Amino acid sequence: MTEVARPTPYETDSIRPEDPASGFRCGKHPPDDFFVRHALDNDRQGLGKTYVLRDRDAVLGFYTLSMADVEAEVAGRALKVRLPRYPLPVALLGRLAVHQDAQGKGIGARLLRDALRRVNDLADQIGCLGVIVDAKDEDAERFYLRYGFVIVAAETWPHRMFIALGTIRAAVRFDPLV
Ligand SMILES: CC(C)(COP(=O)(O)OP(=O)(O)OC[C@H]1O[C@@H](n2cnc3c(N)ncnc32)[C@H](O)[C@@H]1OP(=O)(O)O)[C@@H](O)C(=O)NCCC(=O)NCCS
Repeated sequence: MTEVARPTPYETDSIRPEDPASGFRCGKHPPDDFFVRHALDNDRQGLGKTYVLRDRDAVLGFYTLSMADVEAEVAGRALKVRLPRYPLPVALLGRLAVHQDAQGKGIGARLLRDALRRVNDLADQIGCLGVIVDAKDEDAERFYLRYGFVIVAAETWPHRMFIALGTIRAAVRFDPLV
């Protein structure tokens, strides 16, 4: 029986073996080094799944998702509800970066929406209170603040930021593209 390819609601797809050597560069060393040296292995080992936005063979950008947990106190700062005191489940947006030649054209926003859509869908099947991201610098922090993330730990860099599943779900309902 022939398998029929189903349309996907996502703009990205999984990292491929040829992607790390495709010349992707966002201009910051940690994400560039991660993409070239670790993204594919981590994806294969299930440490973090990397999703890539392409224009033909060129990698325009990528992001990485994993499962994580946060202390109840951290989640409580954003959710303002009573929560159990044990570590609570969230998704971690570990990396998000856009090719330096493609920045400022809305691709970062598209990648973030794509990542949040994936988490929204996954949260129907596995416990997940929201998404955390560790903003490495002020640029990253400003970017995530635009999209409803709140800072939950600002004592030292990176600043941990959080967006609640309820906020993601509301955005998905409001914007069918999310
Ligand atoms: C941060 C980054 C992902 C943004 O991607 P981008 O494609 O240039 O951003 P977009 O064009 O989608 O911009 C989306 C919005 O965020 C704003 N924005 C983008 N970068 C910003 C920054 N550094 N500070 C504040 N706002 C920013 C844009 O003005 C735009 O707002 P608008 O819709 O009101 O015009 C990209 O610059 C990048 O890859 N940087 C290096 C890696 C990095 O720092 N990643 C983030 C942390 S892991």
